[in-house]
Amino acid sequence: MTHLTIRRPDDWHLHLRDGAMLTGIAPESARHFGRAIIMPNLIPPVVTGDQACAYRDRILAALPEGADFTPLMTLYLTEQTDPADVVAAHRDGIISAVKLYPAGATTNSASGVTDFDKVRGTLEAMAEAGIPLCVHGEVVDSDVDIFDREAVFIDRVLEPLRRATPGLKVVMEHITTRQGADYARAGGDTLGATITTHHLVINRNAILVGGIKPHYYCLPVAKREEHRLALRAAATSGNATFFLGTDSAPHIDPLKENACGCAGCFTATNTLSILAEVFEQEGALDKLESFASLNGPAFYGLAPNEARVTLTKGDPVNYPAKIETGDGSVTVFDPMMPLHWRVEE
Ligand code: NCD
Ligand code: ZN
Repeated sequence: MTHLTIRRPDDWHLHLRDGAMLTGIAPESARHFGRAIIMPNLIPPVVTGDQACAYRDRILAALPEGADFTPLMTLYLTEQTDPADVVAAHRDGIISAVKLYPAGATTNSASGVTDFDKVRGTLEAMAEAGIPLCVHGEVVDSDVDIFDREAVFIDRVLEPLRRATPGLKVVMEHITTRQGADYARAGGDTLGATITTHHLVINRNAILVGGIKPHYYCLPVAKREEHRLALRAAATSGNATFFLGTDSAPHIDPLKENACGCAGCFTATNTLSILAEVFEQEGALDKLESFASLNGPAFYGLAPNEARVTLTKGDPVNYPAKIETGDGSVTVFDPMMPLHWRVEE
């Protein structure tokens, strides 16, 4: 096969940031994606419907003329979140989901949740209104090894939370483990899971072998090879539980290449070419559309995009190594393999 035409994909987990960074990187997602779930972890975080509305306007203003891209906004769940504000923002079409960060789990998560009893009322209101909860699934306990934090979160937090709030739609975001994929697969209609592009490509060796590679450091951190293979099997299975959330998370190079480097891989620019390569390697090009364009909208109760994109196989495609923004340069994720599938513009 040398041509592949699929529905225009969506990105169900994206960091667009704000200000000059937003202006610099928004075109990278708008080029190939129809919609994206926009993460609310700005400083300060997006916690009210009014703030989500204002942030959406700033995103729309940053898009190139004529872009076919709709930001789907989220609210950042805090222990002070007002359930009525969440329900109203969803009813008014301002937000599509709410994001749960355990406090301290990742970049800009200090306002996240420590005491889950304090968000019980909001979760119940969300279950009632059919508002999905997007979950960063890692415990933050210092006694839990960073490579075990996702698996432990499932047992200690996610399973009890789902039992306590029947009917709540939950997205396990950026799963990185076999345990995450297995739990998601067994979770029924109310449970979905996003998988990033980079976790299909790298295992933890990419970060640590031959010198420390800060551009491969993200959270949840990439795990052992067995987990990468489990994620590839899940993503390429066609199972409706699994859909694309790139977690493309730009940081300027000085903050990545630093004694205490930020977490995040920036994959917006070359994601589709990488995914086509991965799905072809797995003999599953026919499942790419399910993963990137169909399963996500079905979970969110939306129609797939009407527009199509075509990928063409040929000589390796060269993507820029960096995107220049008004805040500084951002390194594009290097998949360490030639990419033969070009997205027709
Ligand atoms: C994200 C970021 O930089 O905002 N970083 C990351 O490594 N994925 C936060 C997140 O989604 O965990
Ligand atoms: Zn993220």
